[in-house]
Amino acid sequence: MTFDRSYPGPDPRPASNLHVAVIMDGNGRWASNRGWPRLVGHRKGAERVRQLVSECPDLGIRYLTLYAFSTENWKRTTEEVMGLMALFARYIKREAGRMNREGVRLRVIGDRRQLDPKLSALFDWVETETAHNDRVHLSLAINYGGRDEIARATRDIARDVAEGRLSPDEICDATMTRYLDTSYMPDPDLVVRTSGETRVSNYLLWQAAYSEYVFTPVLWPDFTPDTMKTILDAFHARERRFGGVMS
Ligand code: FPP
Repeated sequence: MTFDRSYPGPDPRPASNLHVAVIMDGNGRWASNRGWPRLVGHRKGAERVRQLVSECPDLGIRYLTLYAFSTENWKRTTEEVMGLMALFARYIKREAGRMNREGVRLRVIGDRRQLDPKLSALFDWVETETAHNDRVHLSLAINYGGRDEIARATRDIARDVAEGRLSPDEICDATMTRYLDTSYMPDPDLVVRTSGETRVSNYLLWQAAYSEYVFTPVLWPDFTPDTMKTILDAFHARERRFGGVMS
């Protein structure tokens, strides 16, 4: 059965709320293995992002959250940092039309205050431009770090307590969740990291408390929707207990 992708209305299939978060790793190695500059790997990585986003409805993914630039990535060369920022801008300008045709709502998480104001304004623009879409919720984590996010949320909570908008007794899991950048999304069901690295690297530290993790040796520029399908098939076969026991 095929579905008309040119109309971003409700998908006729049963709604899935599956949230997959991805640490897209291995772009640099993919390029170096071929004797190419690292940025070529990032460009190929951006193509993989576009493909995966388009396939989300068929894969049953409603929320896709991608780690595109961490708070630690500023340590890279100026050339690479500037190249990545330019790639994000180009991706948004080129893909906004397709995202609307495919019903994709894009939001950017992370601290925007250190970003070029023009890039930050572009993020505001695309968030407004795609705000009516509900088929796929794509979030790009840019200048994102889990610890930084928790510290920013804590500062906001402290401010609200100091100014009388929140009582200290009200602070619980749910309050914390509300103050995080990710307040609009469910916690990730699955976190995938590519390229054979088996670290969490400061990604969604609060949100991934009960997530399943899959580490695959595939480098991100080689990661296709079929790779995701294989991972999802294995994920669906796993038993998730959330700290309890299965009856
Ligand atoms: C990690 O691989 C990847 C990044 C820091 C950048 C991720 C960016 C993209 C996939 C490209 C564009 C994304 C969008 C949303 C348009 P690495 O460079 O650390 O790889 P290495 O470990 O092999 O050096």
